[in-house]
Amino acid sequence: MTLSEPLSAIPADLVAACDYQRYALARLDANALAYLQGGAADELTCQANLDTWRDWAIVPRLLRDLRGGHTRCTLLGDELQHPILLAPVAYQQLFHAEGELASTLAAGVMGGAAVLSSFASTALEDVAEAATGPLWFQLYWQGDGPATLALAQRAEAAGYRALVLTVDAPVSGLRNREQRAAFALPDGIAAVNIAKPPVLPQLPPGGSAVFDGMLAIAPTWDDVRWLCRHSRLPILLKGILHPGDARLAIETGAAGVIVSNHGGRVLDSQWPALNALPGIRGELGAEALILLDGGIRRGTDVFKALALGADAVLIGRPYIHALATAGALGVAHLLKLLREELEVAMALSGCRELSSIGPQALQSLRGSNE
Ligand code: FNR
Ligand code: LAC
Repeated sequence: MTLSEPLSAIPADLVAACDYQRYALARLDANALAYLQGGAADELTCQANLDTWRDWAIVPRLLRDLRGGHTRCTLLGDELQHPILLAPVAYQQLFHAEGELASTLAAGVMGGAAVLSSFASTALEDVAEAATGPLWFQLYWQGDGPATLALAQRAEAAGYRALVLTVDAPVSGLRNREQRAAFALPDGIAAVNIAKPPVLPQLPPGGSAVFDGMLAIAPTWDDVRWLCRHSRLPILLKGILHPGDARLAIETGAAGVIVSNHGGRVLDSQWPALNALPGIRGELGAEALILLDGGIRRGTDVFKALALGADAVLIGRPYIHALATAGALGVAHLLKLLREELEVAMALSGCRELSSIGPQALQSLRGSNE
């Protein structure tokens, strides 16, 4: 629950994503903040996600004719005004009474797309009805193929344009910050789209809650192949960090991959998506659809992700900070800020459109310092 009423106008000192974080930290209660800000274990991956951008510097080219430049892109057939999507974030009513309705509305109004979480706190049909732009639905495996497909088909019937199957969290991360804060969902906030949560098998005596519990009903590549074959919507696999898994994703029928470590919330000490990206682009080739998330806080971060091979990016915590601060208005304003930052980075580095942003625009600082 928010401690204070959301703002109805944007204060003049809210000029970047970090400002929304400052406001959100002052407004949300300790329970919601532990869930939002935290990650797995020592949060090394959370920190690495934020630091990795510093390893790359932009090398500008000047005096090019950039008239008519833009940030438009086409993803799975939909034209978007910019390549910054809202990542799936569960239980958004924790952060604002209008939760997912507000964030997805803002994404559409700003000409972008949003991904609704399986664990959304609002009915997926209600979100689709209120939406003004393309929506994708994030799927968690529901214990078996038919149950997962049924949820996917519900999303398809409601008008969602693509599915994002999250594959990096067959068991929950060990989130010590949440544990210390005794995080619990407040009454009235729930994963309302999951009618019947998957049933875990009875543990054998001495069995492992991980391997004989969650992993007993976790999907494998065969399940992904089955789902891709039966789903009419394109499926992206989210949480890919290894080129071999990216290759398997495409071979099993996925329409693309989201390079991600789940915002550092699952396995601590994973490497940042940005580091994994060039290898994955190299493996899949120029035509494959590759998105990235984790730690994006600036338009220059978006620029660097695109330069190293992403077609588009997603943001998680930053838009929740904006949602908690000023609802749909805040999220729309944040998207405007990030898009402007991207436009300025492109204009000052000589890139007229997203496809002009390539590896030649970056210099590795690590390499040159070593
Ligand atoms: C998430 N993320 C997530 N991912 C997913 O596939 N399904 C989900 O339900 C959620 N829920 C969720 C809740 C919260 C509070 C956070 C912060 C994140 C992960 C999310 O989609 C994305 O991968 C990261 O948030 C990206 O990192 P940044 O932008 O938060 O640094
Ligand atoms: C999380 C789950 C819901 O990151 O994906 O909290």
